[in-house]
Amino acid sequence: MEKIDWSELSFNYTKTKSNVRAYFRNGKWSDLEVSESDRFNMHISATALHYGQQAFEGLKAFRGKDGRIRLFRWQENAKRLQRSARGILMPEVPTELFRQAVFQVIEANHEYVPPYESGASLYLRPMLFGSGPTIGVKPSPEYTFVVFVVPVGPYFKEGFKPVRMLITREFDRAAPLGTGTYKVGGNYAASLASQRKAHELGFANVIYLDAKEKKYIDECGPANFFAIRGNQYITPKSSSILESITNKSLMTLAQELGMEVERRRIPEEELGTFDEVGACGTAAVISPISEIMDHMNQKVFRFCPDGKAGPVSTRLYNRLRAIQYGDSPDPYGWVTVMGFGQTAPSPEQPADESLPSKTVG
Ligand SMILES: Cc1ncc(COP(=O)(O)O)c(C=O)c1O
Repeated sequence: MEKIDWSELSFNYTKTKSNVRAYFRNGKWSDLEVSESDRFNMHISATALHYGQQAFEGLKAFRGKDGRIRLFRWQENAKRLQRSARGILMPEVPTELFRQAVFQVIEANHEYVPPYESGASLYLRPMLFGSGPTIGVKPSPEYTFVVFVVPVGPYFKEGFKPVRMLITREFDRAAPLGTGTYKVGGNYAASLASQRKAHELGFANVIYLDAKEKKYIDECGPANFFAIRGNQYITPKSSSILESITNKSLMTLAQELGMEVERRRIPEEELGTFDEVGACGTAAVISPISEIMDHMNQKVFRFCPDGKAGPVSTRLYNRLRAIQYGDSPDPYGWVTVMGFGQTAPSPEQPADESLPSKTVG
């Protein structure tokens, strides 16, 4: 393995040692095979290429201070991939096959799980797609399931910094009865133009409104939206957003802090009443939001008056990261500690209270 400068990692592809693959043919799943190639030999008429019959997942493994590898809530990703598969008529990957694949790929690539001190982690990308040939619009006769891994840097290299977001009315990510609740590639293709527009205008990403009435907050780039008001944690209920595993975890942790959790429609005007708002997902856990601009209505909603993430977002972020890295007990059984790939325990890090958790770059 080539030496990796863990401090230089970002969210880009890096080749690792191997990936694992299984095939669904003649109504059944094959055993897993290991491949050292990061290429496929694809049929030119595969349904994934033509009709977007494809779904994927994203989850992370973390190395703790004790040198052990911890995988976060993989069972939820297995379930969500099964849901996505049902949504676009692909065969489900059985939970046991998913488990074997993720454990096997982490074990084979354990040297790529970054050290605790780096604040980096190993990102796992399971994917399932129609690999058999068809020309008419119909489900594929064959499917491929692959899990590969990529070491990724801490999201917040310079600390837990709030971002600016743009409300868009020109683009929809997904229709109310469309595929927004599934993690399928088409939703991401549909989001690229709006994301580019947001970047060009100096925003981190867009906030989509509900596609039908353009009234309610929907998805927040490739993440869920949440808001804090007093003792309430409020997050959108919508038929076009992906159910985030991070959001689900934050809702549990908010309840642990004694907060009331509400999942309901959030009208845009309500933004003005919130104390803190943020986006949440596997990549960053929480991206605090300092400003939401609604160009069309000439409105700006401002948060984080001191330029820093709010206290509740910071507490939730620290609590979840501490569970993921094994710095705090895991009362909910979210973390699977791997029995392989352990490295020597890390030297104690000096505590830096100004940074959330241990996101040392
Ligand atoms: C559209 C969308 N919403 C929400 C999320 C957050 O989900 P999770 O917390 O499971 O990563 C993601 C990322 O997976 C996403 O792509």
